Amino acid sequence: MILRLAIIGFGNVGQGFARMLLDKREWLLKTKGLDVEIVAISTRSRGSLISNRGLDIERVLDLLANGKSLDEYGDEATECTARQIIDRTIADMMIELTTLNIEDGQPATDHISHALSKGMDVVTANKGPIAFAYHDLRTTSRSMGSRFRFEGTVMDGTPIFSLIEKTLPGCEVIDIRGILNSTSNYVLTAMTNGRSMKDAVMEAQAKGIAEADPTLDLEGWDAAAKITALANVLMDARMTPRDVDRTGIKGITAETMNEAARQDNRIRLVASASRNNDDVVLRVKPESVSSKSPFWSVNGTSSAITIRTDLMGELTILETDPELTQTAYAVFSDMLHVVESIRSGTL
Ligand SMILES: NC(=O)c1ccc[n+]([C@@H]2O[C@H](COP(=O)([O-])OP(=O)(O)OC[C@H]3O[C@@H](n4cnc5c(N)ncnc54)[C@H](OP(=O)(O)O)[C@@H]3O)[C@@H](O)[C@H]2O)c1
Repeated sequence: MILRLAIIGFGNVGQGFARMLLDKREWLLKTKGLDVEIVAISTRSRGSLISNRGLDIERVLDLLANGKSLDEYGDEATECTARQIIDRTIADMMIELTTLNIEDGQPATDHISHALSKGMDVVTANKGPIAFAYHDLRTTSRSMGSRFRFEGTVMDGTPIFSLIEKTLPGCEVIDIRGILNSTSNYVLTAMTNGRSMKDAVMEAQAKGIAEADPTLDLEGWDAAAKITALANVLMDARMTPRDVDRTGIKGITAETMNEAARQDNRIRLVASASRNNDDVVLRVKPESVSSKSPFWSVNGTSSAITIRTDLMGELTILETDPELTQTAYAVFSDMLHVVESIRSGTL
């Protein structure tokens, strides 16, 4: 089977995913009978490509690694916008990996909606569309018979959405609690070890964990987008990150950390979703967790989630020190789940 991909947004994750496809090319052919071709790539400022024959990915990665624009690739270079590329490409699947927009999830939501409405399958690691428009996108995908997967939006390639969907049929999710933002957890861990918040943030930036502007992380917006995505998908909520009762870690001081330590506790930024009658209540706030909590030993850039269900009780999943490979793997595994669905004729 030949699978043709259009990748909209080709930064860290897109390039990591493309490298994974190259590394796994033989394995995909041998064990899955799958020949994956990238037939379109769109970026905002580094050029875009469209081709019906498939692009030479090593060459594309080389150009970008050498700081060049994709315009230098050849006749396949195009000035089309992402939306125009979705209109013109022959791809079977669109992979949306543009930058998160925490205000409204755009233009990623529009890219996904457009691709689904043209009958393409879609995979994304961008949490904006799931946090702002999950139910609309799900309705479009069902009405068009397209598949839509988004494992990488929360905890990278750790199976959270797939776990519930594929392995816990019939379980109702009652509540969710998680440490979902790497930068905040890295900063809080460093503060536990006596560093100031300012130094810890600079350290996180130097290691490439935090953005130059870490506001989205430190003010709890990233965690808010993730808990909203989880609640929309797993608890049938209809919410956006603006509905989250949100407090970031900016107000945490050395004294707060010391006070927690005196009680043998640690401060963690906890995102939660719980039911209150027919409503779902979403919160992001720093909490003092005891050594009995599974969150006590979640340090540095690690993440953890506890999901309480009616039939399977409480499950906690820990992801230890993830790197880019784990996010690229989320896209890779979603792609393979879509291929399985295509072959079995399911959605
Ligand atoms: N990095 C991670 O570890 C991680 C983990 C989980 C989820 N994610 C999510 O995955 C997505 C991609 O992350 P990343 O780290 O790869 O980001 P990135 O390195 O900033 O790359 C984003 C890409 O999207 C392109 N882009 C932005 N707006 C566009 C538009 N309107 N049309 C076409 N292309 C556009 C950018 O083009 P330019 O290069 O020209 O700006 C760039 O190629 C984000 O939504 C992020 O939240 C990332």
